[in-house]
Amino acid sequence: MAAATAEDTLREVSKEVKQYTFTPEPIPRLSCTDPKAEKLIANEQPVILTDTDLVKSALHWNLDYLGSNIGEGTYTVYSSSNHKFLYFDEKKMSYVPGFVPPTKHMDLTFDEFKSKVNSSSPGSERYYLQQALNDSVDQRIVMDFMGFNWNWIMEQQKKFKWGQLTSNLLLIGMDGVITPAHYDEQQNFFAQIQGFKRFLLFEPSQFECLYPYPIFHPHDRQSQVDFDNPDFKRFPKFRDVKGHEAIVGPGDVLYLPVYWWHQVESVPNRGVTVSVNFWYKSAPTEKVVYPLKPQQKVAMMRNIEKMITDALNDADEVPPFLRTMVLGRYT
Ligand code: OGA
Ligand code: FE
Repeated sequence: MAAATAEDTLREVSKEVKQYTFTPEPIPRLSCTDPKAEKLIANEQPVILTDTDLVKSALHWNLDYLGSNIGEGTYTVYSSSNHKFLYFDEKKMSYVPGFVPPTKHMDLTFDEFKSKVNSSSPGSERYYLQQALNDSVDQRIVMDFMGFNWNWIMEQQKKFKWGQLTSNLLLIGMDGVITPAHYDEQQNFFAQIQGFKRFLLFEPSQFECLYPYPIFHPHDRQSQVDFDNPDFKRFPKFRDVKGHEAIVGPGDVLYLPVYWWHQVESVPNRGVTVSVNFWYKSAPTEKVVYPLKPQQKVAMMRNIEKMITDALNDADEVPPFLRTMVLGRYT
């Protein structure tokens, strides 16, 4: 009856999550052997896979085990004065004078991270470890890592003609941490290890409703909309946003398609979350089919925006340039 218990827990968890101005539709939970799951992935639609055994060898990874076994290296940790960890690209900070990073980046040993997490009290600073897994970890963690279901990972890559696996990010978050809505430019199998995460997902076509920052901004690819307090005057189309929801627990793997928007929330009051993602390059476009898909248009817009910004060599000139090009001519 283990399966029923997991489903019951997920049902409980689904009642504990935040409510927003939109009502998301559930993403299907399927066996990885179900032909429907394969079809969804082939069509770049998200799906939760319940039985991949992808990170079975790491399901015991908690703070104590990692603290005793991960080794002496340092890890990328972000701290935030609230629950939100809005990503920013440090390389783009110089383009936006006066940009204030919303979180602090620090390099901590695992023990330092662990003691910060354990000594935190409600309302105090929150911490989120986000570190690419590499060979600097100690033997026992390497063994667990080698025990990941790499066969399955390779099979998927082949089946869907994806490019190379580029990285695995290890994410260890305190209770209630939130990664605000953004999209990534890679395919992602997101494996949950400890605790529960809730994903709010939006199709690439929802670009208009989510108002991403300009491409040269440190928050490139992130939504400007604050889901907790949306400014409908600035972002009126956010009223019409259509979302989906996926709640993942230990052993679940979410397929998160390239260019799909996601906000990721560690479910509050359920402890620390541990996850590992698998990022792959997407398949190269073989033959262009019209009309273009929304994600292809997003990619095109990124290229055009980049070209204009580079050519003008001044981010401040981009908005008037685009206005002159479009307003009254194409409007
Ligand atoms: C991702 C991602 C954030 C998180 O894997 O692409 O955005 O908090 N993860 O898990
Ligand atoms: Fe992401």
